[in-house]
Amino acid sequence: MDELLRDLNRRRRRVLAGGGEKRAAKQHAKGKYTARERLHLLLDEDSFTEIGEFATHRSRDFGMADREVAADGVVTGHGRVNGRPVYVYSQDFTSMGGSLGEVHAQKICRIMDLALQNACPFIGINDSGGARIQEGVDALNGYGEIFRRNTQASGVIPQISVIAGPCAGGATYSPALTDLVLMVSGSAQMFITGPAVINSVTGEEVDSQELGGAEAHGSKSGVAHVTYPDEDQLFADLRWMMGLLPSNNEDNPPCTDGTAPAVDPQHLREIIPGSPYKSYDMQLIIDGIVDDGSFFEIHAEFATNAIVGLARIDGRVVGVVANQPRFLAGCLDVDSSDKIARHVRFCDTFNIPVITLVDTPGYLPGVDQEHGGIIRHGAKVLYAYSEATVPKMSVVLRKAYGGAYLAMCSRSLGADAAVAWPSAEIAVMGPEGACNIVFRREIAEAEDPEAMRNKKIDQYRKKFANPYVAASGGYIDSVIDPRDTRRELVDRLTALSDKRARYASGRHPHGNIPL
Ligand code: HXC
Repeated sequence: MDELLRDLNRRRRRVLAGGGEKRAAKQHAKGKYTARERLHLLLDEDSFTEIGEFATHRSRDFGMADREVAADGVVTGHGRVNGRPVYVYSQDFTSMGGSLGEVHAQKICRIMDLALQNACPFIGINDSGGARIQEGVDALNGYGEIFRRNTQASGVIPQISVIAGPCAGGATYSPALTDLVLMVSGSAQMFITGPAVINSVTGEEVDSQELGGAEAHGSKSGVAHVTYPDEDQLFADLRWMMGLLPSNNEDNPPCTDGTAPAVDPQHLREIIPGSPYKSYDMQLIIDGIVDDGSFFEIHAEFATNAIVGLARIDGRVVGVVANQPRFLAGCLDVDSSDKIARHVRFCDTFNIPVITLVDTPGYLPGVDQEHGGIIRHGAKVLYAYSEATVPKMSVVLRKAYGGAYLAMCSRSLGADAAVAWPSAEIAVMGPEGACNIVFRREIAEAEDPEAMRNKKIDQYRKKFANPYVAASGGYIDSVIDPRDTRRELVDRLTALSDKRARYASGRHPHGNIPL
């Protein structure tokens, strides 16, 4: 037995060494951790159980027959994050560039199957050159098997992807099918056809970071949901964020003791400017409602005219959706529609009530938006809110015009509670646009058209640009003092905590298709 154990330890040491010291040093020189160091950062101390450590490839072509690839380039198993079980894989770039071959894929699939069978979150740490070229169609098939499992697990267990190095080709699509993609600046890239891509306008080669780095995917493509300056911050934040999620779609997110908001709710009375043409920072309103330090913003740099994220209110997890008047006046456009719709569906799959803060002048006008499919993308928001069976609450702070009023969780789409601040303006369109249409002739024929126009705008504002017309029709449940917003939401959340629509509607739970 002693000899057998010595042999086991020898083999284990070889596996633990991954691609060797030289390659690990190269990894560190790039500001990257190794696959096993990352698991150490992610998981509770001594909680990792490895599965398939001695697995290796069966490839015989292109010099592979004699090539040992430690753990076949991916470390897989289960562990705990703050005491709660999770299933993980961590690709080892030091072993054949973390490339995905047949056995590598089988190991990931086994972990995905176990995560689904045991209804636990699944976390993938990606650092890979994509399909292992030497293994041909076996490698491609491996990706297909993973994509199918990602899709089957969608909306059943939370799936989180960390992008911690190059993710080339097929390596990008499994993350893209998951709920959240977290990316490190500088060292991580995602690209399908790069890295050597030529700019069609300048004819110059595009730098791989510019093409598919965290900045590009965090702000332009929207592929990355959150970006971080380094891996330490990413894994610390991921551990904290997992506390906002349930383990599966039949579970609720964990509750904690509540904390006071960062902004004194009393100040909420002072944030909306006197002039309807002035903007303000919606983040201040969120900070006056949610528990201090609880806000996890998603897509912070993408479609900045909307804000989405998770937070706690009095210790309970909620999804937050808000217009951001600082950018594009908070209007809805193609990208913000996708951002909002996807977030509402994500919350709905994981039993997270949604709170919507409304201040939007409407849809962004223009040929670009129309031809970009604002009808198709805007419809996703209508669909997502109408479909969602979790508690839905909306607060209209200021402008809520036309289709955008309806889209932002109106009673008509099934809001369980819809309240407004006294500053709310709920109407078919803004006063200027409305008066230009309705009173066109009267204004044109007036002695002083400008004075007449202002008079009509004033009349319209008094009549329609307030919350009381909507409240009198039952479309707004109550008009509230801004400083009471948090308390009102807590009361309503409590009243809705046993909402049964999920079961009463007869709808099946749904996945979280990447919109
Ligand atoms: C086999 C690979 C590999 C791959 C990298 N390696 N990618 N081995 N298959 N796909 C190996 C290298 O040979 C090298 O081995 C080690 O990993 C490190 O790679 P380097 O090139 O030295 O590292 P670096 O300079 O950092 O560049 C990393 C990289 C580059 C940008 C990822 O390796 C690269 O461009 N790889 C190919 C990317 C790609 O086009 N993949 C798409 C595959 S097609 P040694 O032994 O020297 O350490 C695909 C289609 C699936 O995925 C479609 C599904 C929908």
